[in-house]
Amino acid sequence: MEAFVINGAKKLEGEVTLHGAKNSALPILTASLLIKGTSVIHNCPDLTDVRNTLDILTGLGCKVSYNGETAVIDSTVVDINTISRFQTKKMRSSILFLGALLGRLKSGEIYLPGGCKIGERPVDLHLDSLSRLGADIICDGEKLSFFANKLEGEEIKLDFPSVGATENIMIAAVLSSSTTTIINAAREPEISDLADFLNKAGARVRGAGEYVIKIEGVKSLHSVEHTVIPDRILASTYMSICASAKGSILIKNVRLSHLTPIIPVFYSLGCRMNAGADILQIISKHRPKSVENITTKPYPYFPTDSQPMLSAVLCTAKGKSSITESIFENRFIYANGLKALGADVYEKDNTLYINGVKRLYGARVKATDLRGAAALVTAALGAKGRTVIENIAYIDRGYESLEKGLSSLGADIKRFEYEEGYKEN
Ligand code: UD1
Repeated sequence: MEAFVINGAKKLEGEVTLHGAKNSALPILTASLLIKGTSVIHNCPDLTDVRNTLDILTGLGCKVSYNGETAVIDSTVVDINTISRFQTKKMRSSILFLGALLGRLKSGEIYLPGGCKIGERPVDLHLDSLSRLGADIICDGEKLSFFANKLEGEEIKLDFPSVGATENIMIAAVLSSSTTTIINAAREPEISDLADFLNKAGARVRGAGEYVIKIEGVKSLHSVEHTVIPDRILASTYMSICASAKGSILIKNVRLSHLTPIIPVFYSLGCRMNAGADILQIISKHRPKSVENITTKPYPYFPTDSQPMLSAVLCTAKGKSSITESIFENRFIYANGLKALGADVYEKDNTLYINGVKRLYGARVKATDLRGAAALVTAALGAKGRTVIENIAYIDRGYESLEKGLSSLGADIKRFEYEEGYKEN
């Protein structure tokens, strides 16, 4: 197992470049299964979830190469339609192979997905929607067996704009026989990126990024080359880290429009920002100001994935703040780690109440999920003294060599291996 050791309270200065968005790369790689040809995907971040997705594609018969930046998937031949329980359990996005296998082979067998335990995370919207397109899906315990004689377009109104369900419908409907309409579709930038990828391959997807998406089925898709959009959640992570540790960070390869829900929050914390075409400089000199309440909501509102890192910043804000989580039921599990660092926080009715303290102090803590781990890193970089964060495998699911980017800014952060139950001298 691996841990970070961080000596905090060092001002950060310098520049970092955003890698490709995890939440774009995963659906795009999965959708490459639909193409009888080659997909060349640039800016594909080197994350464990990306490697797992590429392993699944290989297991289904695709020829895959990856140099840590560009993935090449030749899916001319796909002759296996089952994914093992072990592989599907590794990440939530494996459920997108349901749509991809239905679209490509019209049948398959996978298992209910795994992923971070930040809530119940059911897949009912995925299963109901794909059934509406004509799939027979049998759920036997954790096993999902599915087949379809034919997938036909439908009008599907989602009860909630689920990111994954929107993607699964798009992926399955691209090769269907008529037009599918998704009403109340998710509008996250990653949905538009998936649509761009599919359209470049010959699909007809209109309205991505809006309330209604229309997917006109086509007979086949052709080889494609695509560059994944920059990771907006990584941008918000660096912004939080700057607000926590103080200093000045120039973030390169930014899509400012994707940060519209995030930038005003950092202004209200008292950070200064300078923006260029694809750069954002954030400067933080003083103790952050508190915020009355931030509520996470689907895009274009404040993202749930940025919530834990923002909480970490607010722990040392001047005054009281609160954050309400409206997407996942169990997304404050990292708060115990913040408390161990000296934060004065408590959770009630899906809201985290934060009474800002002057300083946090280093401690030994354990990561519990991907963004919760990023929150602990954010807090530790601003805290006085030495923090050890165990279980950082979570970080590697969504951040490519995070410690390298942070070290280049002047942070004192190192990765080390440990055995379960180790004791410090
Ligand atoms: C995606 C992102 C994740 C992000 C989330 C919300 C990826 C790989 N992951 O996850 O980082 O936090 O969007 O922006 O892109 N729900 C149901 N039934 C369903 C599907 C979802 O009840 O069938 C619920 C979920 O339990 C959750 C909410 O809807 O409470 C949001 O889920 P969803 O938008 O689907 O998130 P994911 O696609 O899992």
